[in-house]
Amino acid sequence: MRNLIDILDFSTEEIDGLIAVANDIIDNPEKYRDVCHGKILGTLFFEPSTRTRLSFTSAMMSLGGQVLGFDNAASSSTAKGETVQDTIRMVSAYSDIIAMRHPKEGAPIAASRVATVPIINAGDGGHYHPTQTLTDLITIKRKSGRFDNLTVGICGDLKYGRTVHSLIAAMSRYENVKFVLIAPDELVLPDYVKEEFLKTSEYTETVDLEGAIPSLDILYMTRIQAERFADRDEYERLKDSYILDASKLKCAKSTLSILHPLPRVNEIAVDVDDDPRAHYFEQAALGRYIRMALILKLLDTKGVDDRRTDGKEDPTLECRNPHCLTLTERGIKKLFKEGKCIYCDQTAVKI
Ligand code: NCD
Repeated sequence: MRNLIDILDFSTEEIDGLIAVANDIIDNPEKYRDVCHGKILGTLFFEPSTRTRLSFTSAMMSLGGQVLGFDNAASSSTAKGETVQDTIRMVSAYSDIIAMRHPKEGAPIAASRVATVPIINAGDGGHYHPTQTLTDLITIKRKSGRFDNLTVGICGDLKYGRTVHSLIAAMSRYENVKFVLIAPDELVLPDYVKEEFLKTSEYTETVDLEGAIPSLDILYMTRIQAERFADRDEYERLKDSYILDASKLKCAKSTLSILHPLPRVNEIAVDVDDDPRAHYFEQAALGRYIRMALILKLLDTKGVDDRRTDGKEDPTLECRNPHCLTLTERGIKKLFKEGKCIYCDQTAVKI
């Protein structure tokens, strides 16, 4: 059994395969209409979502399968104090595959260690969001025609933006991809993401969106993630750090692709929507087809996910990431590998 917890769980060849299937689904939807007849997708959303949950639901329905789940933790037994791992044990018995979103980092890994069906990470806190990255990748492939030789600008909340972390992980595997990381000083890319994925890629960091635009092939805008701020005043101060509008695009390449995982708040003015380089609504629409391809792949795959047996207990180490699931989940085994917490990837502290 395979899972999708982190985008690097799939090789670049596997990603090409998913995109090929998604393109075939777009061209021949009738071929796929009943292929998941009798299968059930569990959608466990402990955090708000529009696109991700509905596109997963639409994907499974379009394959002839059915969907069960919840769209908020308050209506699940989490409200009664149930752990993530117990919820997953149960839903594994009621479904054939699970897509889950959780506010704590590492929750999908904890889930995958007890699940008896494939787990898809539909977003874990400010950590990763690999299915958004699949959506981003199919859009990049269809619009730019390639993954290599691209200058990719990523703008906004690079600290808490989980879609950013997964996109960088994915794109760093291709030849001659240059990243331009555009963020206020308070919201720069975390060190653990740089250490994991940017060791061999060229990147620059800047606060200047307008100055960066002319060099870009892709501009990936993101929302400032209000819900992750401990300090509301800081959010208020930073929320309008970047607003992309038509005037800022005057010096952009004619082949630029403007992407956004959505939802947008203020960071893209509506006057950009009619620009032929604005692809974010089409990007969201493509999410349905790439998720159909993903469901088919995971229901079919016999492989093994090493993470299920990864890591060791070590009483001399402690994960101090306040957003890691292991700090709140009762009874969870705290596991480490190469000095890092296996759930959230952050370096553990020696005690
Ligand atoms: C993103 C997310 O949930 O991280 N949304 C999405 O899945 N399309 C981006 C965001 O919420 O800003």
